[in-house]
Amino acid sequence: MCSAAAHVKARCPVYPGSDTHRFPVPDHTVDWDTDCPQYSPVKYTAPTVLNKPAWADPEIGSFSPQFNSIDGSVDRRSHEGSYRVQNGKPLNPHGRTGLEGRGLLGRWGPNHAADPIVTRWKRDSTGQCVHHTNSQLPVLQFVSIKRLDCGEWAIPGGMVDPGERISQTLQREFSEEALNSLQASPSQRENIQKRIAELFNSAGLQVYKGYVDDPRNTDNAWMETVAVNFHDESGNSVSELPLQAGDDAGQVSWIDVDSSLALYANHLHFLETVAKERNAHW
Ligand code: BGC
Repeated sequence: MCSAAAHVKARCPVYPGSDTHRFPVPDHTVDWDTDCPQYSPVKYTAPTVLNKPAWADPEIGSFSPQFNSIDGSVDRRSHEGSYRVQNGKPLNPHGRTGLEGRGLLGRWGPNHAADPIVTRWKRDSTGQCVHHTNSQLPVLQFVSIKRLDCGEWAIPGGMVDPGERISQTLQREFSEEALNSLQASPSQRENIQKRIAELFNSAGLQVYKGYVDDPRNTDNAWMETVAVNFHDESGNSVSELPLQAGDDAGQVSWIDVDSSLALYANHLHFLETVAKERNAHW
């Protein structure tokens, strides 16, 4: 599983939100199976995590998590199969990162997220699908949010809560970040749920499931996600709902899907898969 340049962002020199410098890990020492006697990762767990918020584990020693299994309500299994545990700590399945501890991540081992990619066809004022002048292919649009933490445009994804099914996370995160359901009245919220239920209850097209090369990753904690495309083919389901940014999102908008977009994490790669699968402009 560990190939040389398996992860790049997970080796970014300065750990996000801190002045902590990772121990440098050149490509040829990423793999745990490559001997690296001089390897001396920096220890760092963010104060926000050490403060024991509800979403974070305690330090190892004060509790013994059941790795590679469902541990109470926390799913500690990786989408990529079994991972190693060394001295009681899980090892990043994609290799060394230059930093041990959990950094900004709450869970030891995999930290599960889910990314709902909601799409529709771009239409002109008469309702006709718009085709791109270069590719002649129909243009897809997706719901994108501007993240408050880093200011980058992204898919409105988020962390899977303990005990939550991924299908619930996909729908909840979309409602919170793109439809601002957290600020809605109970009756408005019910209306939102009704309007999106049909789309989100459809099977969706799974475009990715696995490890994410994320700058928050460490030797002992890493991001994984499941990205699913829900497509409003006729344009009369979610497309008709007014978008309103909420929770971790500063702005929300329908954005044309195109290879020149700059997006957070590996979200552009997810959109490429969606565009190709749906035979849309890329
Ligand atoms: C984000 C997801 C993203 C994941 C991995 C989560 O914090 O909400 O959109 O895919 O991190 O980078």
